[in-house]
This record gives sequence, C-alpha cells and structure tokens, in this order.
Amino acid sequence: MIRAALEAATRRLARTSSSARLDAELLLADLLAIGRAQLLARDTDTLTAEQHAAFATRIARRANGEPVAYLLGRRDFWTLTLAVGPGVLVPRPETELLVEAALEAMAGRTAPRVLDLGTGSGAIGLAIACARPDAHVDLLDASPAALAIAEANRRTLGLGNARTLPGDWFAGLGSARYDAILSNPPYLADSDPHLASLELAHEPPVALVAGPTGLEALAAIARRALGHLEPGGLVALEHGATQGEAVRSLLAGAGFGAIRTRFDLAGLERATQGTRPD
Ligand SMILES: C[S@@+](CC[C@H](N)C(=O)[O-])C[C@H]1O[C@@H](n2cnc3c(N)ncnc32)[C@H](O)[C@@H]1O
Repeated sequence: MIRAALEAATRRLARTSSSARLDAELLLADLLAIGRAQLLARDTDTLTAEQHAAFATRIARRANGEPVAYLLGRRDFWTLTLAVGPGVLVPRPETELLVEAALEAMAGRTAPRVLDLGTGSGAIGLAIACARPDAHVDLLDASPAALAIAEANRRTLGLGNARTLPGDWFAGLGSARYDAILSNPPYLADSDPHLASLELAHEPPVALVAGPTGLEALAAIARRALGHLEPGGLVALEHGATQGEAVRSLLAGAGFGAIRTRFDLAGLERATQGTRPD
C-alpha cells in the first residue's frame, strides 16, 4: 500500500535527511508518474512488486545521500525546470537572488549582454534568457560535464538568446564586455567541515571547493569583472553566509561602487553586488 510504503521510507530517510517525508513523496510520485496530491489521495492503493523494488532502490540511494534532484533528474529554479545530474551542482533557492539582482539592474537596458560565470546546469543565465528574450546570455563553465548539461537545458528550453562557452573564468573572453556578470562560484575552503556531509559528497568538488580560504574564486572574479563590464554594469556574486564582509571589501578594492548585500530567506548574507562607475 502507498501509505505503508511512504511511512517505511520516511522512517528510513529520517536518519539522514531533514526532509524525509517530502523526499519519499517526491520519489514515489515521480516513479508512479503522478502528482503528490494524487499520491496522497490514493494512499490505500497497492504497489506492484516492481514498483516496490524500484521505490526501495531510490530510497536506498537517497539514504546514501544522493540528492533528490539527481534521482528525479530535474530541479525547479526561478520559472524553469532544469535537467540536473552528477556533474552539476543542484541549483539552490538562494541563487535566485542573483537573478533578481540582474533583472532589476537591467530593467532600463535594451538587449543587455549577460555573463553567467560557472553556469553549472545553466540555472542563472537561462532564467535571465527566459525572462529577457532581448538579452544575449553567455553561459560559461570550466567543466565539460556541466557545460553538456547547460547546453541540453538551453536546447530543451529553446533559448536561442543564450550560448554555452568553455572557459576558466575570464581567460579566453578577450575584450568582451557585458551589462551584467553573475556568478555563484565555488566558495568553500578545502578544510570546510560541510564537505564531509553526506549531501555534498555527491556533488562535484569543482563546484564546491575554491581553495585554502574559500575566497579564491570570488577574489579572481572580483579582480577581473570590472574590465569586462560596460559603465554602470552590474556584478553580483553569491557567497557563503560568513563571507559578505570579505566580498564587499573585494568589490570595493576592485573599484566597484553601489555595493550592497542581499539576504536569503533565513536572513543570512548570501549575494553581494556592485556596479562599475560610469
Ligand atoms: C557552485 S557551482 C554553481 C553552478 C550554477 N551556477 C548554480 O548556481 O547552480 C560553481 C560552478 O563553477 C564552475 N567552475 C569552477 N571553477 C571554474 C573556473 N575556473 N572557471 C569556470 N567555471 C568554474 C564549476 O564547474 C561549477 O559548475
């Protein structure tokens, strides 16, 4: 029965997941190709032996820390549903702060040029390309696995105003200039205890770890972004909850003005932006 299967799965996942019941419902609803509301309305239905076995496999993988999004093969971000899998970071809700910052800053600009540095699944850049059909968006990443997923998402969403580019931050961009440069770069220190958590164990280290201090990628981007921005252009960087002050100082030191930090739903500093003075 669906109800019993969900209860057993929730008990098993409770040891390793803070969203055990939700995880179980999402994984079973997807397996049965129905919505969660339908799943709950039909909770006295029985499962076939094959459905039981397939659900047990998913729950075992989830109990081992695999993100629900990898098991489903997709994740919602902004207005989009994106394909995700091992090889890219699962887009997080707080990263939508960068999309908000960019859409606000570009409201008065026509045909803005946007750079999403370290695009992963393409989340930030594709959200902007969809919201602003007149924008030209470059989705750049050093990881071939990530770029393949970003390109697949771009095609599925039919966003001809975005393109994927391989690259190591700004190296290779020549003298290209943008109206907005956005990045959620790796920002964990290589000794960060969170890296030992079961959840992060499945995501690619290149998406998470910046170096000994955690600020290496943020500093590299802050240092070079000004030279790739049009006057009045925006840089917006996601960072860890304790890195706001360091990022504000990196942007001020690089010559940016109008520096401000945005907060996530938990009230933590999460994204800092600045503009290139005119
Ligand atoms: C934290 S993930 C962000 C992914 C996506 N933007 C998101 O917010 O979901 C960081 C991304 O930066 C990429 N990256 C790491 N080092 C890079 C580098 N030197 N140049 C370009 N991209 C890099 C990683 O491959 C990864 O996709």
